[in-house]
Amino acid sequence: MRHDREQVKILQERGHATLLSIETSCDETSAAVVRDGRIILSNIISSQIATHALYGGVVPEIASRQHVGQVDPVVDQALTEAGMTFQDIDALAVTVGPGLVGALLTGICSAKALAYGLDVPLVPVHHIEGHVCANYLAFPELKPPFLCLVASGGHSHLIWVCDFGRYTLLGRTLDDAAGEAFDKAARVLSLPYPGGPALDRLAQAGDADALPLPKARTQGRYDYSFSGLKTALVTAVRNRKPGLRDADIAASFQKAVVDALVEKAMLAAQEQKAPAIALAGGVASNSLLRATLSRRAADLGIGCYIPPPVLCTDNAAMIGSAGFYRLMEGDLAGLDLNAMPSLPLNVTSPTKCG
Ligand code: KG4
Ligand code: ZN
Repeated sequence: MRHDREQVKILQERGHATLLSIETSCDETSAAVVRDGRIILSNIISSQIATHALYGGVVPEIASRQHVGQVDPVVDQALTEAGMTFQDIDALAVTVGPGLVGALLTGICSAKALAYGLDVPLVPVHHIEGHVCANYLAFPELKPPFLCLVASGGHSHLIWVCDFGRYTLLGRTLDDAAGEAFDKAARVLSLPYPGGPALDRLAQAGDADALPLPKARTQGRYDYSFSGLKTALVTAVRNRKPGLRDADIAASFQKAVVDALVEKAMLAAQEQKAPAIALAGGVASNSLLRATLSRRAADLGIGCYIPPPVLCTDNAAMIGSAGFYRLMEGDLAGLDLNAMPSLPLNVTSPTKCG
């Protein structure tokens, strides 16, 4: 901290750095050790799902308290698994937003204390940028430019990644995020929290053509809207036609969400002449989305990158990857760093992005 700028200059000249990263934006307490933004030395994830399942969703105050209890053990485990000590760490990276304020603050306070104690630079990371960078960990050969579809519990973004750390937002959801839509639909079908994976499993046994669902129209050609689908699902459940099973409703809903996500992504890929498309965020674990995107990208003849599910869900390794590229740009934070619950993605103007 005291000699930040000189330390960063040395790391930039070397072009190498080992980061300890922390992610506590929602209901996973995670710490990782990542080398050069590409190599995972450890990635420890402590999930709070079992606790929040009792309430049918994330309870922010409980999440914060669990992070407080988990963050130190998770950091220790990340170092142990990497075969390292604090002395091997060149910089700290931490999620600063978006997310739950109390949850974010837990990770930020830990990262600040560690960076100060170890006298190393502190790098603030945007959660969605972390999701995008999960692809750099899974695919060491991947380089911008590429198109990235980020579908998580709070976001549905179509992002043009023009360079490392440089993004243009092509489209976004106008109402619910895809994960939020899955979670709400799952609740209507009385499935347990978290709804997305449960609905995905139930849909395997259903007929996706059993329930016709509306297609959203949006003004922006790459924007999404899922709230109409949700209303249609509630109506279908209330006025259920004889013979329509929960599995059929789940399968039809899943197909409608996936078709919407993939259709706009493919339109953007074609119009922007993307050499490749990458998938990111918790919903990227969805089996139908993975299969549909791979197939459509192959039909178009463009590259398709889909990280393994452990890197799609919230994890600190992705924050360590994004943190490395931020560090190389000299983007640092001071000890006055605060949580930013609604932090927008730092986007570059399309003309500069190229
Ligand atoms: O990225 P993430 O772990 O947390 C946020 O940043 O929001 O995403 C969590 C979201 C939840 O809405 C969850 O239901 C959804 O991802 N999800 C899925 C699946 N696995 C997780 N949605 C559909 N199918 C899945 N298999
Ligand atoms: Zn996330």
